[in-house]
Amino acid sequence: MCVVGTRINGVEIADTIKLGIKRRIDKMREHDVEPCLATILVGDDPSSLTYVKNKHKACDNVGILTEDYRFRGDVTQQDLEQVIDKLNSDALVHGILLQLPLPDHLNGFELTSRIAASKDVDGLTPQNIGLLAMQKPGLVPCTPLGIMTIFEYHKIDLAGRTVVVINRSNLIGKPLYHMLLQKNATVISCHSKTQDIARICLLADVIVTAVGNRSSFELRSDMIREGCAVIDAAITRLDGKLTGDTQYNDMIQKASFLTPVPGGVGPMTVTMLLSNTVKAAADIHNVRL
Ligand SMILES: NC(=O)c1ccc[n+]([C@@H]2O[C@H](COP(=O)([O-])OP(=O)(O)OC[C@H]3O[C@@H](n4cnc5c(N)ncnc54)[C@H](OP(=O)(O)O)[C@@H]3O)[C@@H](O)[C@H]2O)c1
Repeated sequence: MCVVGTRINGVEIADTIKLGIKRRIDKMREHDVEPCLATILVGDDPSSLTYVKNKHKACDNVGILTEDYRFRGDVTQQDLEQVIDKLNSDALVHGILLQLPLPDHLNGFELTSRIAASKDVDGLTPQNIGLLAMQKPGLVPCTPLGIMTIFEYHKIDLAGRTVVVINRSNLIGKPLYHMLLQKNATVISCHSKTQDIARICLLADVIVTAVGNRSSFELRSDMIREGCAVIDAAITRLDGKLTGDTQYNDMIQKASFLTPVPGGVGPMTVTMLLSNTVKAAADIHNVRL
């Protein structure tokens, strides 16, 4: 009989990790290095404004310096390229984060690709994605890194296990696929064109779901095996409330581990951004942490 019902407390795990990050920042200061993150925000989308504000606050709380670059929604591609070039060559900046999505007239792929791989704390440049796919060290995307950290924290063994990932985006599903393979999981990638997701989910020891549209998809407890670990990384609104792809009270009856929304993967994502910024600073300055 499997044990069910462990709530994964993302805030608690994030707080534990932040203690380690603060210690690493203290060590960096002994080498006269002050880790610094620069964010670039275009336009006035309320969600993006909130995300950037929260990232700055999280940096302040652990002692990472920040620089805040904001542009009107009609900024040109060339102007943004110039800012990225300037930040790439600024020795006092260690992380560069271009907040996505961008307005339609801008080429997000070109801009992201322009960020120096060594400062790409979102892990989204082709170079870092390629390194991850080839299982070489680099900076990796924050949400999948946060999910992997949850597995590690709760000692959820992945080797030989079947892990179903319902998402194939560049931000979550694809990098997570490679990270899971690195841990010797058998990974099944599902998406909007997958037929009979319920049948596939019943094979899973672990499910990571990140769809974020409850009108088109919901992961219900009758779609999982008892004792399956479920990571719900989606963030969406249902009846005015923040939720994920699962209904917590239903799923916790059957899942061994379950992340709530909010308070699960979300706090881990921003913490991994802090961790990546400190890692970038340490690598750039050759400080061994
Ligand atoms: N917790 C966090 O820190 C965090 C961070 C980032 C994002 N998120 C959340 O994660 C969710 C996904 O974000 P994203 O940027 O990856 O979004 P995205 O690019 O829109 O990806 C959504 C994925 O879900 C798949 N999908 C859509 N409808 C489906 C369906 N009916 N059945 C199965 N799969 C379906 C899509 O398939 P196709 O590829 O076929 O379109 C796609 O792979 C959102 O709710 C977002 O808010 C959370």
